[in-house]
Amino acid sequence: MAATHIFDTPPEGAASDWTMPQHWPAFTPDQHATWRTLFDQQSAALRGYACADFLRGLDILRAVPPGVPDFSELNRHLVRATGWEIVAVPGWIPNQPFFDHLANKRFPAANFLRPPEQIGYSEEPDMFHDIFGHVPMLTNPAFSEFLVAYGQAGLRAEKLGASDYLGRLWLYTTEFGLVVEQGELRAFGGGLLSSYAETVAALTSPAPRRIWLDIERVMRTRYHFDEFQRIYFVVEGFDALLRATEETDFARIYARIAGDAALEPEDAFPGDAAYEGPLQPVRPGPAFMTPEARG
Ligand SMILES: [Fe+2]
Repeated sequence: MAATHIFDTPPEGAASDWTMPQHWPAFTPDQHATWRTLFDQQSAALRGYACADFLRGLDILRAVPPGVPDFSELNRHLVRATGWEIVAVPGWIPNQPFFDHLANKRFPAANFLRPPEQIGYSEEPDMFHDIFGHVPMLTNPAFSEFLVAYGQAGLRAEKLGASDYLGRLWLYTTEFGLVVEQGELRAFGGGLLSSYAETVAALTSPAPRRIWLDIERVMRTRYHFDEFQRIYFVVEGFDALLRATEETDFARIYARIAGDAALEPEDAFPGDAAYEGPLQPVRPGPAFMTPEARG
């Protein structure tokens, strides 16, 4: 991964909480065109792959003019609908401010957009990932509360030195989570839904493992950034995810697993319950994914 938006201290222009102006007027016509291509084609191609609340939640993004959204305008709709607001940040930010933003219903979004040659796959989480991938799910009340609870748990985990364990819960739910809706496997994680190729792999390929989510199991499982995931966790629904989060004593899990080696994605673990339901069929993808479209 060639991530370039990683900082140890807030870069110039960023406040102590790492927020900074989006600089929306600086986005060029080409960047707006990239966004429109991604948005139009990917939202169409995700029908049947993304969960219903994600597809419905995209309407929040359609409430603002097509192209790179102006966060101040988007926030007017988002705050009214969900209580969340987007805050612009320079890229990866440290755990403490990240958790604090989530606990207070501020969703951090990168203030840069992937270059046109990375339209199909961005090497690092950019604004399209953060906004297209994550904002629609904020409209689901249970998922929204899950994120707040996650942020609060994060602030506690920081004090316990356990943020790496908690981070695995974020990765395997908010980024790469799958849900079963009316007997169909769908994606709700933003890491999937902002990457068409991995969405297809997660839902159609027999190769990766898929097991029902258990929070301790998730926290024991290492993830890999530089490849498609080799294991996905499946939830029954967002109420169940929220309930499991509220009812689980994370500190006890951290203490229990502290001395154990992390599991690799292919490792079995006692109690694993495989998702045995049907996968999705492969459907035609967005035009920007074809070699011809990439030029
Ligand atoms: Fe993300």
